[in-house]
Amino acid sequence: MATRIALGQYLRNSRRTASIEEGQLIRLIEDVAYASRILAAMVGHGALGEVLGAAGSRNVQEEEQQQLDVLANDVVLETIRRSRHARAMISEEMDSVAEVEEARGYGRLLLLIDPLDGSGNIDINLPIGTIFSVLEAPMASQAILEQHVLQPGRRQLAAGYVLYGPSVVLVLTVGQGVAMFTLNRQVGEYLLVADQLRIPPGRHEYAINSANERFWSDDVRRYIGECQAGKDGPLGVDYSMRWTGAMVGDCHRVLLRGGVFMYPVDARTAAKGGKLRLLYEANPMALLMEQAGGAASDGQRSILDIQPTGLHQRVGVVLGDAEEVGRLVGYATGTAP
Ligand code: AHG
Ligand code: MN
Ligand code: MN
Repeated sequence: MATRIALGQYLRNSRRTASIEEGQLIRLIEDVAYASRILAAMVGHGALGEVLGAAGSRNVQEEEQQQLDVLANDVVLETIRRSRHARAMISEEMDSVAEVEEARGYGRLLLLIDPLDGSGNIDINLPIGTIFSVLEAPMASQAILEQHVLQPGRRQLAAGYVLYGPSVVLVLTVGQGVAMFTLNRQVGEYLLVADQLRIPPGRHEYAINSANERFWSDDVRRYIGECQAGKDGPLGVDYSMRWTGAMVGDCHRVLLRGGVFMYPVDARTAAKGGKLRLLYEANPMALLMEQAGGAASDGQRSILDIQPTGLHQRVGVVLGDAEEVGRLVGYATGTAP
């Protein structure tokens, strides 16, 4: 069996400086990877593991929590409390910034996380994942406030996701391209299977929840209408539609196979700003897409340039193949004919 580069080795090879932040970044990513291995084992038991089903509670966003949403959050929080590299954690499942008391005066990083993405897929054994983002924390001695977390996505030091599918994969960027690792379950290590991933251009695939069509804006309607018109329409080419119900699954397909994924702001979600969350869903995926040669927009501007104003802020998302994203943004901004 060929030996492959393990995650830790990859991280140490791509280390830019010997600064404390860099050292902690490596270890924090390893922490997230460790937590994800626990989750992978949990979800791997399926109905035998007694972790499926509703938790009977709601999160700050008024969404019904599944047991695994809560468990995944606990596993990550416990892990970083022990390792002390993250000064604070922001999660879809927590109301406010959770300071890691144990990391006071030491931790230099902030972890922003969607512990369990695609909650609706848990009970039906379809793809689910974990999405994460790492930012720099202020001075080690300073208390962490909401304002410290509200940094534009361009400042992310690392971003990635874990997809719990037929195999478990970790896809990661530390700002030097995108690497993909597959979990060797026997050895318990993530091993490098692809480096410098590039979104394959020219693939005609889109992902959108078309049940929301009646709420769409004119530009989204036009974009999707042209895809659906296929060979007989102005684009002169047939498209396919794919939707996994988990952002992680759809973004993974886009990274490996091309095309575009979107959850645009529509009339139903406009008051909230969209459906997906900026800090721990849109930003990490946007950085991965850009690092893989693609683009990520809220429909008007690059997601990574948005100055966040709230921890659980929502945003419209269009990401993937740069040309496809550009076409929709062109319609939305009136820069395309
Ligand atoms: P989460 O499970 O973390 O709340 O995220 C669910 C999100 C995202 O993963 C997915 O793309 C989208 O919600 C699915 O939305 P629909 O229910 O409209 O299909
Ligand atoms: Mn999610
Ligand atoms: Mn979630």
